Amino acid sequence: MRITVIGCGYLGAVHAACMAKLGHEVVGIDVDEGKINSLSGAVAPFYEPNLNELLEDLRETGRLSFTTDMTAAAGSDVHFICVGTPQKEGENGADLDYVYAATLSLRPHLRAGDVVVGKSTVPVGTAARLAGRIRNSEPGAHLVWNPEFLREGHAVADTLQPDRLVYGVQDGSEDHPAVTILDRVYSELLGAGIPRMVMALPTAELVKAAANSFLATKISFINAMAEVCEASGADVTQLADAIGMDDRIGRKFLDAGIGFGGGCLPKDIRAFMARAGELGADQALTFLREVDAINVRRRERVVELTRALCVGALQDKRITVLGAAFKPESDDVRDSPALSIAAELHSQGAIVTVTDPKALPNAAKRFPELQYEFDTEWAIQGADALLLLTEWPQYRGLDPYELAGMVGSPRILDGRNVLDAAKWRAAGWTYRGLGRP
Ligand code: UGA
Repeated sequence: MRITVIGCGYLGAVHAACMAKLGHEVVGIDVDEGKINSLSGAVAPFYEPNLNELLEDLRETGRLSFTTDMTAAAGSDVHFICVGTPQKEGENGADLDYVYAATLSLRPHLRAGDVVVGKSTVPVGTAARLAGRIRNSEPGAHLVWNPEFLREGHAVADTLQPDRLVYGVQDGSEDHPAVTILDRVYSELLGAGIPRMVMALPTAELVKAAANSFLATKISFINAMAEVCEASGADVTQLADAIGMDDRIGRKFLDAGIGFGGGCLPKDIRAFMARAGELGADQALTFLREVDAINVRRRERVVELTRALCVGALQDKRITVLGAAFKPESDDVRDSPALSIAAELHSQGAIVTVTDPKALPNAAKRFPELQYEFDTEWAIQGADALLLLTEWPQYRGLDPYELAGMVGSPRILDGRNVLDAAKWRAAGWTYRGLGRP
């Protein structure tokens, strides 16, 4: 099939490449010339494992191209909308400007029978509005809402082997003509047994908001337990292991630490609350305010623990932060808890050096006032305290005996509870975890 993918960021670039991998002829469109030039040269404009290899493989097939020119959408059977929906400046709601702009510029190129497929995360009710606008310019075109559940760092595998495919269509019916067309797009996945569910547009939009809210709630739940563990001398990691053995609870997303960040969970729970308010259902989601508050409190707690670790004063203390990305295997620093802690320590007088295998260029753009050092050994020289804030494998594997001779004082705060506390203590370190004695 011929497919258009509008928006070539973390979602769209991966989606375009994966659709070409499935055998389709794909054109990726974005207004950002830098991104398009990079992708045209088979280089992803961000770090995502396996994506560059995939782009390189596809280059030989000639099935994948990128352009800034929207007229390239003409002649495609299916047009995916993969643009960002960031949080509005100074408000909780989602900014839908990119979604509306993408649809507006796509409309002149639509033909009867074309399917527009929304993948961006949007407030419930957006799809019905977009469907109306599409019908006004091309009554024979259809809109499907097909939310995306990929995780950064696992995006290629999550796109090609998703847990499920969700199609939202106007009448919620399996017989909707767009269902057959989208089934053709995903035929290889469906053939491999990936479950597919057809539902009405608002349900499909809500599936995404509900999934991310549930994940955020799970993380804040365990972080709330960490607070209670700290107050009572219990160990949150053992607690998570024990409750996680109950199938109904499950161990995934129960890692206590500095909390969630990134371009999705924080802004999605806020946008969900804002939308519920508009719908008069705000009471239903007031718990998400608490989920957000627990999450933000983790960052403040780490600053306090670092002060305690440095024997009461941060002024002129040399702090090395291991990890800047919001999670490992990503260079994304949007709402990164690690960076926000680093910036707060800096503003309180500490001399902060941040290191990360992939995210330093993005981090330096966001917080130019911090010091950055790519080499881990250089970054930790003479440090008064180390803070492990993003659990990259290279930091999890650090040898406490080797490191002890490089730092100024052997003190470490394990913000992700991934280190062996006994081993670090045996090597002479003052070790502090979160929610662990
Ligand atoms: C999240 C969802 O997991 C995806 O399913 C969804 O498609 C995506 O948002 C999206 O809306 O586009 P992502 O933002 O890539 O994916 O990252 P996650 O793996 O969900 O991690 C989010 C944050 O939670 C990270 O900062 C991570 O460190 C933190 N986390 C995760 C914890 O603090 N504890 C855990 O147990 C798990």
